[in-house]
Amino acid sequence: MHIPLDRDSAQPLYQQIEAFLRQGILSGSLPPETRLPSGRQLAKNLGVNRITVERAYAELEADGLTYALMGSGTYTLPPPSPLPALTENPPAPWPLWQQELLHGDEVSEPLVPEALLHPAEHPDAISFDGGTGDPLLFPVQEFRKTLQEVLHCDGCSALEYGDSRGYAPLRTTIAQVLTSQGLRANPDHILITSGSQQSIALVAQLLLGPGDVVLVENPTYSGALDLFRSMKLRIVGIPMDKHGLQVEELEKLLQQHHPRLIYTMPNFHNPTGICLSTPRRRQVLALAERYNVPILEDDFVGDLRYEGRVQPALKALDPDGSVIYMSTFSKMLMPGLRIGFVLAEGPIYERLVRCKRVNDLASSNLMQHALAVYVTIGRYQTHQRRSCRVYRKRRDAMVTALARYLPQQIRFSVPQGGLFLWLRLPDGTSSEYVLAAACEEGVAFMPGTHFFLNRAQGEPYLRLSFATQTPSAIEEGIQRLSQALGRCMARPS
Ligand SMILES: Cc1ncc(COP(=O)(O)O)c(C=O)c1O
Repeated sequence: MHIPLDRDSAQPLYQQIEAFLRQGILSGSLPPETRLPSGRQLAKNLGVNRITVERAYAELEADGLTYALMGSGTYTLPPPSPLPALTENPPAPWPLWQQELLHGDEVSEPLVPEALLHPAEHPDAISFDGGTGDPLLFPVQEFRKTLQEVLHCDGCSALEYGDSRGYAPLRTTIAQVLTSQGLRANPDHILITSGSQQSIALVAQLLLGPGDVVLVENPTYSGALDLFRSMKLRIVGIPMDKHGLQVEELEKLLQQHHPRLIYTMPNFHNPTGICLSTPRRRQVLALAERYNVPILEDDFVGDLRYEGRVQPALKALDPDGSVIYMSTFSKMLMPGLRIGFVLAEGPIYERLVRCKRVNDLASSNLMQHALAVYVTIGRYQTHQRRSCRVYRKRRDAMVTALARYLPQQIRFSVPQGGLFLWLRLPDGTSSEYVLAAACEEGVAFMPGTHFFLNRAQGEPYLRLSFATQTPSAIEEGIQRLSQALGRCMARPS
């Protein structure tokens, strides 16, 4: 075999040999099962070192173009057939099982204002549709240092699989934070999860099966609705008023539906921002005990209180393990950490740990190590105070702008904390319709339809997140919203 080699070229000789053979295999001039000369033979022919030829052969083998047979030699393989391009509409129809997946998905289509709010058309778009704190306030530099420190000091153990219950020092810190907030929290009752969404999923997976009833506030967090729908649960809504879920209604629903779980957000409820009043908290607990139903308490932003008295968590009022409490670092720190936790006592704890193990073995050990270093109780409280200061100002800016620019028929109340303002539009005005107009003006929000069991019930509502925009952007965004509303209210849907 003759391979032309350019000894003055910057390309190493082994690459020239490899390229020549590769070309032969791909073009078919070296058909499959052709035996290549031995390394020693080819090296001699070409006047190169044997290692040079063997390196070229190794590259070809690694790319699946040749194979070596012990004691026999190196043989060519058929060239790989080009992969068909992935298109939405393949030339042949999808297999039947794939076609079945095109129908009957219970999870709501994500409402993607980004699709409407095309960044190219609106480079200065203002988004009130988020559900987290402001990414510009994430403690990126400090966290970078923490990660470096962790990798430097205990890199190997941080990169191993961790304990399914979660990294013990982090559980201890969480227990300290919770204790400082009036909860009796023992690190051995804390399970670290990959965010609250997983906490809800684990509890639901453990306690409920298809057809079982779960009670939720109506409206409620859309991620929980999607999850429960995907599990084919029967979701029953508890009506709310300005003091939170209505307890008389809850009792009727308990009698009527025999639910297996009550999922609730007593603090700064998503989407309404309402806090469940303290007397109602006690009544809800008493009912859950009487009807033997566990409560899943989602305290996703309980720490973001801007004024008013702190109310006790349901868990803090629960003497006998009826309440499974959960929270997350997504809102107070950074959602990309994917770290949340559950606090639960009794047999449920061990069952949840097992459920966690079978789902994903454990949450990211590296992130847990970093958080355990980053979140000392002092630092957490400093960060919390700073977040509250910033978000309170933004809430006030939004309230002022709403009062100044929006028509008076639009009603809202001022939440004492959290991330959201919940607006009620005049009857006959649809928030989805307003969203389309708002996106044209360069502002986005979450329409109320996203949060109700029956989407139509959410038509006159919309959720605005005030946390991610500066006061001046908030004022500008609300002016744009007012333009959009002006157009839509003049032409009710
Ligand atoms: C009420 C509520 N619970 C849970 C979650 C999920 O949060 P995580 O990022 O911890 O999974 C969210 C996220 O928006 C939420 O709003």
